[in-house]
Amino acid sequence: MFFRILRWIGLTLLAGLMLLITSSCTMLGLNYSSLETSNKASPAPALEIAQLAAPEGRAEAMTMLEDTLYGPWPAGLPVRIGDWRVINPDYLGGRGTLEEVDITIGEGPGARPFRLVAAFPGNGARNPVVISQTFSPNCATFPAEAVTSEDGDPCSEKDQGQVVNFIVTGLFGKYIAEVPMAPYFDAGLVYASFHAGEFIPDSASQAPKAMAELGGEVNPTSALMAWAYAFSAAMDALENDPRVDRQRMSVMGHSRHGKSALLAGIWDRRIDTVIAHQSGFAGSALSRSQTGETLARMAKTYPHWLAPGAQAYADNPDRLPYDQHLMLALVAPRRLFLGNARRDVWSDPNSSFRAARAASAMWEAQGVPGLGDGGMRTFNPADGIAWWLRPGGHSIVEEDISAFIAFLKAGPVRSAASPPSELPTAPAPG
Ligand code: GCU
Repeated sequence: MFFRILRWIGLTLLAGLMLLITSSCTMLGLNYSSLETSNKASPAPALEIAQLAAPEGRAEAMTMLEDTLYGPWPAGLPVRIGDWRVINPDYLGGRGTLEEVDITIGEGPGARPFRLVAAFPGNGARNPVVISQTFSPNCATFPAEAVTSEDGDPCSEKDQGQVVNFIVTGLFGKYIAEVPMAPYFDAGLVYASFHAGEFIPDSASQAPKAMAELGGEVNPTSALMAWAYAFSAAMDALENDPRVDRQRMSVMGHSRHGKSALLAGIWDRRIDTVIAHQSGFAGSALSRSQTGETLARMAKTYPHWLAPGAQAYADNPDRLPYDQHLMLALVAPRRLFLGNARRDVWSDPNSSFRAARAASAMWEAQGVPGLGDGGMRTFNPADGIAWWLRPGGHSIVEEDISAFIAFLKAGPVRSAASPPSELPTAPAPG
């Protein structure tokens, strides 16, 4: 009798465990994204391309984004830039310098500082820039360099959190925190980076207060919009630097920071190129899609990423007057890279691809190549809206870095109407 009960308990536990594993397969990256798009819904509502390309139509679309999921772009929120400090004059074996600058956003006691670290190639030219926003503190992005930690001292071993790093890189890829700088230098790029959470903490309990106290006439009400504004502040810090080609400034983010990179690209038109890697829901994935995380779930787990009223739309995405293909279209004709991985079903590559295909007409209408017609397996780095899908899961790995750089090297693609660069520029990298 006793053994029979024990056996039943054992079987019940095993069944529970199996259920848990099956229901978590998507989250754990064990499923594969479908590559079939013809049997799935086209994004709705369809884009009115001519209207969207006109200034009033564009402004209306941006107001729609603000009024539903993202809250206001904090226009005019003061940005103060400190002086650049050289951290390492012989960075990467003397190939350039590593420098950092304090940036403060806001006014009065609630203004918030963060630090931007940049690696400048020492080639004497104006170079294109890529500004990356990360989950990780700068100490983890630039290990073994004396950049300033978030408590104000130079980074030391304790700040680099080696155990945490070991776990995080095991889960999310070798380059989730640390940057392999040599290939960026080889491509003639300035690489700048900051930790988004140093500005607005990635915390449902702390972010709303931090944003409300920034002291602007308009404060952000979603962390995604606040982080997008931080990209813009980083642009301010770099655009007048004589080592920078201000016509070729890119923003880049992974996952939640891919979402904020897209927003920055829409609101700040100085940004020439956007790299949104695995940006998922509220990024490039369609809000009406029920595959992967879903918008409803994201809004519940991370309420501070979105505006306070967003949950009502997330629970019923049919109430949204747009879907994410509109957001992608608003980046055009500037270049947009959408990074994906086959087992990152959580971020829903299939609906992102459908969004990209629907948005592509916006590039074409403005005289630049849109998305090639090779399907989800084809990467064409010269496309105006480029699609990248690799095997594997939600992470940043070496192949991604090569794809980012190939895309950055292929730019810029400008429409005939774009003004020519006023500045002397470095020869095209590579
Ligand atoms: C979670 C979240 C995603 C987000 C991701 C990330 O997985 O559910 O929406 O994109 O974190 O930022 O890594």
